[in-house]
Amino acid sequence: MGSSYLCMKEEVEDNTDIIMEGALIARDRVGVQDFVLLDSHTSEAAFLNNLRKRYQENLIYTYIGTLLVSVNPYKELDIYTVTQMQLYRGVNFFELPPHLYAIADNAYRVMCSEYNNHFILISGESGAGKTEASKKILQYYAVTCPTTEQLQVVRDRLLLSNPVLEAFGNAKTLRNDNSSRFGKYMDIQFDFKGAPVGGHILSYLIEKSRVVHQNHGERNFHIFYQLLEGGEKDLLCWLGLERNPQKYAYLVQGRCAKVFSINDKNDWKIVRKAFSIIDFTEKDLEHLFGIVASVLHLGNIQFEEDSNGHAIIRNGTQIKWISKVLSPLNVDLAFYARDAVAKAIYGRTFTWLVNKINGSLANKDSTRKTVIGLLDIYGFEVLDTNSFEQFCINYCNEKLQQLLIEMTLKAEQEEYEMEGIEWEPIPYFNNKIICDLVEQKHKGIISILDEECLRPGEATDLSFLEKLEEKVGDHAHFVTRKLADQKTRKSIDWVDFRLLHYAGEVTYCAVGFLEKNNDLLYRNLKEVLCNSKNGIVRDCFLLSELDSRRRPETVATQFKNSLMSLIEILMSKEPSYIRCIKPNENKEPGKFDDCLIRHQVKYLGLMEHLRVRRAGFAYRRKYEHFLRRYKSLCPATWPHWHGPAAEGVERLIKHIGYKPEEYKLGRTKIFIRFPKTLFATEDAFEIRKHLLVSRLQAKYKGRLGKRDYQKKRKAAIKLEACWRGVLARKEAKKRTWAVQIIRKFIQGFINRKKPLCPENVEFVRLVQYKYLMKLRDHIPRNVLDKSWLQPPSILEEISEMLQKMCIRNLVRKYCRGVTPERKVQLQQKAVTSAIFRGKKEGYQQSINLPFADTRLKETDINPKVLQLIQGEKVKYATPVVKYDRNGFKARERLLVLTQSSAYVVEMAKIKQKIDYATLKGISTSNLGDGIVVMHVPEDNKQKGDVILQCEHIFEMVTKLCMLANKQNLVKVVKGSLRFRIGSGKEGTMVFTVGPEPHVFKAKDGQLTVVRPHQGTGSLVLAFPSDAQPLWESLRKHPWKRVVSVKRLLNRNLKETQFVFNLLTPFSHPRCQTRQSLDEKQFLVTRNGKEPAG
Ligand SMILES: Nc1ncnc2c1ncn2[C@@H]1O[C@H](COP(=O)(O)OP(=O)(O)O)[C@@H](O)[C@H]1O
Ligand SMILES: [Mg+2]
Repeated sequence: MGSSYLCMKEEVEDNTDIIMEGALIARDRVGVQDFVLLDSHTSEAAFLNNLRKRYQENLIYTYIGTLLVSVNPYKELDIYTVTQMQLYRGVNFFELPPHLYAIADNAYRVMCSEYNNHFILISGESGAGKTEASKKILQYYAVTCPTTEQLQVVRDRLLLSNPVLEAFGNAKTLRNDNSSRFGKYMDIQFDFKGAPVGGHILSYLIEKSRVVHQNHGERNFHIFYQLLEGGEKDLLCWLGLERNPQKYAYLVQGRCAKVFSINDKNDWKIVRKAFSIIDFTEKDLEHLFGIVASVLHLGNIQFEEDSNGHAIIRNGTQIKWISKVLSPLNVDLAFYARDAVAKAIYGRTFTWLVNKINGSLANKDSTRKTVIGLLDIYGFEVLDTNSFEQFCINYCNEKLQQLLIEMTLKAEQEEYEMEGIEWEPIPYFNNKIICDLVEQKHKGIISILDEECLRPGEATDLSFLEKLEEKVGDHAHFVTRKLADQKTRKSIDWVDFRLLHYAGEVTYCAVGFLEKNNDLLYRNLKEVLCNSKNGIVRDCFLLSELDSRRRPETVATQFKNSLMSLIEILMSKEPSYIRCIKPNENKEPGKFDDCLIRHQVKYLGLMEHLRVRRAGFAYRRKYEHFLRRYKSLCPATWPHWHGPAAEGVERLIKHIGYKPEEYKLGRTKIFIRFPKTLFATEDAFEIRKHLLVSRLQAKYKGRLGKRDYQKKRKAAIKLEACWRGVLARKEAKKRTWAVQIIRKFIQGFINRKKPLCPENVEFVRLVQYKYLMKLRDHIPRNVLDKSWLQPPSILEEISEMLQKMCIRNLVRKYCRGVTPERKVQLQQKAVTSAIFRGKKEGYQQSINLPFADTRLKETDINPKVLQLIQGEKVKYATPVVKYDRNGFKARERLLVLTQSSAYVVEMAKIKQKIDYATLKGISTSNLGDGIVVMHVPEDNKQKGDVILQCEHIFEMVTKLCMLANKQNLVKVVKGSLRFRIGSGKEGTMVFTVGPEPHVFKAKDGQLTVVRPHQGTGSLVLAFPSDAQPLWESLRKHPWKRVVSVKRLLNRNLKETQFVFNLLTPFSHPRCQTRQSLDEKQFLVTRNGKEPAG
């Protein structure tokens, strides 16, 4: 045991914390996980209390050191899942809450690492959960061990051997619906890789009596019911069976062939499937079911007495041989023999079955293998009446208890030695004395029983009892009624004897001991069976047995021997223990029957075990683990201790204040004597943990925050980089594009003069486009606007065309807009232009002055004159000055033009009529003097050419020549002209320039016309005080001719006057040459002063 125990603790992996200690925290509610941590370890009450607390929290498992105590939950708990299996796999024993899997895994791991053999002993009362536990362990290995495709078969066989054995070896009892009626030891073999590769099963003491007899509420072995319930019709027909179990005497005694909790039909299917996996041939099954059926048939055989008192078979159709072989017997003996046959056949068939399964599980290759044995064996049994079977069972438990105590003690001692701690002898109850009482050669109960069985003469159960009293009567653990004192005598019957087992007293009834021990079968029956056609029966009853002279071994001796060899097997292996407890008699979940459990705790020897485990120290852990858990309690060891762990622990406990008697320091472990010391440490740790946790949380949160920040930062940088990249690429693209455009532009510019070609086409188009677009905004808006956008040289031609088109268009538009009156005006102006343009002073200024239709209305003309004109329509009339031909006197006259003639009129008189037809010419000077001469032919009235002066000279001349249609006759003369005075005389008119306008007859008799110096003058502008905007606009007018401006103040008129001294004569449409100043007008006055400079 020692090394496995030690290994459990050494196999701690470094990266996991010890959770078991973690569970110490909730100990008030769920109790302690390990009974060694109970304060009062000797108190049964405390023990039960802890067990109850846990059971009520569905914590069915608790340790005593490395022993597992399990309480049957009687309900499905969610702790056997594959996830759970994985959780326990490869994890240190103490790291997780107690569990079957921890035990199984620990055994497995130690086996793998140390390459040694193990066993797991599962014991407990019937119904306590032993078989379930062993199945769960098997499942654990099936799931968690490494396996290969080939090994899959082995695994399945290991798993499926169970339902077959259960079908033949289990039955419903009062305590358990699936009670194993045999002891079972199963070896699972593993190869060096830890894969399950084979198995072997040993069975002990199948309860054969059940075949022929069952108590109320109990059943025969499952297989009978399964066959009847589930067997195929053909099979039943072939076996001569009916489906109804009530028809069979061996099945009806318990009166409960049908049980609600058992599904025989389903189980049959499972068993059939299992058979096919475990290598059973059809023949095997034929024989096997043949035997099962024949047992049922046997049970139904009834005997009658014949005339000699011999038994004969009541029903003739029944098997003949039975009557033959049984014929010398009386009816009682015949029934006895029948049952004996049934039991023997069934019992040996069961053994055959186990062997057959073993054959199928056997691993044939010879490499070394290690094993883990699972021992599922009946626990200590105390019934109302205890018989031979209970005697054997309790003897078996006594042996196993001895094994357990010895191994535990040994392990403890070994650990102390290894750790260099002084061994403190542990007082315990040594049950060797009881084992000896039962098994000692010659002196033991079994020997005495055998002796009685073999002794010639009348041996009975009572003689056996007497022998016992005689031989072991003085033994301290043996009592009979005869040997007992007054007090106990009452509780013992005459046929009873009582043994004081380690677990308590058990009273056995000696009745049937001899018969059961002998287990005899009549020789002739055996002979018949040896010759059976059924192969299995033949295998079970060998002829050699008949030949052997030796008496067969008694049942008790057989059992003793097999137990010895079992103990031997176990002794060579490393043990693990599971103690199963049944919480109540009613298979009820959650019910914790104190009395019943106390009883089991006692019989299972749990208190004793705990005492041994706790005798020295309650708690021990490797220094490393202890330090790792509690280092935060001492500043010297927190957060890291760099020296050896042992020294760290020493520092730590000194700091905490352990007293010397509370602990011992071993080589690799610290040993703590009392749980309370550990709990105090644990509580301190609990408080400390909160502090550490908040510190850790803070750190962790900080770290998370930092990580998050860095992630964001990185992301931001990346984004920025990407975005910059995008921008840069955009920019680069733009630049490349720009470069190309510029290059193209330059190339286009260089080649602009060439005809259109790829090099310049775009440039040219661009220039054209630009120019045209610009031109659109600078197009002249009226005819007079002569401006035109300067075209680029390549567009000169087009520009010219456009300009022409534009002008033409403007002109057309203009023309369309001209009214008939204006047209007439313009025609007249055109004529004026043809005549005077560039020839006569003042023409330029006159252009903008519109011609009036007439200067005098008809009403202004004397009606007599109109009469004289004889109704001719007056086309034009104007006041004129007429100069005499002789004296050149100036006379005011009117000039009236009609369609055909011109009249010079004085008041009501027509002074002269000139027919247009006779008009020879019209002359004017080139100066701005207003003189016009109409040349007429000489006529009889001796009137000469007409000399007139007219203010509207251009208007008047134009009208005249147009009416007369004599445009060609108008002459503009320079210097002088000659005119006719009448009566053949001619005069000369001289045109000159002077300071004042003047027309006079010069001394030489010539008519001299002086016109004033032109080119200078002053313009007086008067503005009403509110005419500022008008003035502003005038001021901006580009009057380049203004020489100076003088400001005058005319107080009377409250006007500001400005005198503009001009370089050249000036007229403006808005300037009127009038003397008076109108308030809303401005005017120009001319003064005669010479311009300054
Ligand atoms: N761990 C468990 N979980 C649930 N039910 C259990 C458990 N162990 C035992 N049982 C119940 O108790 C019954 C008896 O268990 P079993 O192992 O056959 O007892 P034993 O072999 O000790 O006589 C089972 O049929 C099952 O209903
Ligand atoms: Mg069982």
